[in-house]
Amino acid sequence: MAERVGDPAPAIYTRLFAAFPEMEPLFWRDTTGSIRGEMLAVAFQCLLDLDGSYAQNFIRAERVNHEGFGVSPEAFQSFFPIVMETCREVLGEGWSLETQAAWDERLRRIAALTFSGA
Ligand code: HEM
Repeated sequence: MAERVGDPAPAIYTRLFAAFPEMEPLFWRDTTGSIRGEMLAVAFQCLLDLDGSYAQNFIRAERVNHEGFGVSPEAFQSFFPIVMETCREVLGEGWSLETQAAWDERLRRIAALTFSGA
């Protein structure tokens, strides 16, 4: 995807803030965009490495951490579908049924992780 669009971060955050305008001001400390860039990089790492306990623990820990920033667990987990929708839009015909199935499977597991008690 990077070959086609370069950095996907602007499109992803545009979509996030269109869906949840109240979240944009939460990034007030991020004057350079580096926090947003890091957050997205880490979210992609978690998606790629979802079988590892590190990614699972990380998602649980950040869910709690983000409540401290004013981000509810529901909002927190919505980041992943927003990333998927942006990738799907950008890839257009390059988006296959297999790609969709792989995302669906991961999104289900992330939702289960986010809302499990741990
Ligand atoms: C819509 C959902 C989300 C919102 C609104 C959100 C919001 C924020 C905000 C406002 C900050 C900056 C806090 C500061 O001022 O330092 C931040 C940092 C961060 N976010 Fe998110 N976040 C979301 C989802 C996620 C997800 C799904 C992940 C990864 C699993 C993630 C990982 C991070 C990381 C790694 C940081 C850097 C600071 C830290 O380690 O806590 N965020 N997020």
